[in-house]
Amino acid sequence: MPTSSTNANSVPVQPVGLGRIIDRTAAPVTRGLPRVVEFRGVGKTYGVGGPKEYTAIRNVNFFVEDLPERGEFICVLGPSGCGKSTILRLIAGLPPQHPPTEGEVLVLGQPVTRPGADRGMVFQDYTSFDHRTVLENITFGLECRGVRRAEREELGRQWIQHVGLDVAADARKYPHELSGGMRQRVAIARTLILRPRIILMDEPFGALDPQTRMNMQDLLVLLWHEVHATVFFVTHSIEEAVFLGDRVYVMGRAPGMILRELEVEPADRPARLMQGDPRFQETVSYIRDLISHLEQSAT
Ligand SMILES: Nc1ncnc2c1ncn2[C@@H]1O[C@H](COP(=O)(O)OP(=O)(O)O)[C@@H](O)[C@H]1O
Ligand SMILES: [Mg+2]
Repeated sequence: MPTSSTNANSVPVQPVGLGRIIDRTAAPVTRGLPRVVEFRGVGKTYGVGGPKEYTAIRNVNFFVEDLPERGEFICVLGPSGCGKSTILRLIAGLPPQHPPTEGEVLVLGQPVTRPGADRGMVFQDYTSFDHRTVLENITFGLECRGVRRAEREELGRQWIQHVGLDVAADARKYPHELSGGMRQRVAIARTLILRPRIILMDEPFGALDPQTRMNMQDLLVLLWHEVHATVFFVTHSIEEAVFLGDRVYVMGRAPGMILRELEVEPADRPARLMQGDPRFQETVSYIRDLISHLEQSAT
């Protein structure tokens, strides 16, 4: 059993399976790089002063640095209702989550005031426009930006291929003609075609069957290597978080806070192979035990 040590910032670090646990409550680890996203003492209370006043998150502090030519993949893991979507939508600048009732949300060093082209979001529900074809859905953002038709359709066809769809067979289909996995491919293409610096994904694969889900995880790793963005990926699935993440934030129940941070090895094999590795399973079990321990101590 490996013993715990400290890193250069004197933060206790304990190796577990494919990863290392960082006691982020002791001190955050900094590489001294510019910060892509930063939360400073962020809290959100809904319905302030009303009969249904409810504090969803409290005192959330973290930052993600800008790793040049790479970006970082952050997975946010936690039980239903702990404030995962609240955090994601605060980064996106989407009301009613935005603005926070306490603290500051910074993107690239500036307080978030509204949604922006530097941030793109993919939701769990299939959010394509029903009356637009696959190609028209994927090129929608470019259209809004005033990109000429020929140019945006060329780029759109490239992205149809990037996400593993077939230009000849799928470009003219409407969303109701697609499976769930295909719809999420369209949603991913529609977001990534705009080249956001920050990609926000709210349980995007939560409604997919296990096999499709693994295929989508593999696709996402591949695309992410191409776009070098910072990704925030919210999930219920511990396996998904350990596979996709460079870092995993584990949140506790309401009011939600980030309780632990883990650094895990990046995905270096297809999901099916990596998830069969005993070291992978060791990390998953560790997090599962941690979550049940946290839940017991909260009740
Ligand atoms: N607009 C809102 N008004 C009131 N309460 C909300 C609103 N949005 C979310 N909540 C509450 O805040 C808590 C956290 O929600 P959310 O961030 O969606 O959690 P998660 O994504 O982790 O499931 C939940 O209890 C939810 O009911
Ligand atoms: Mg949610």
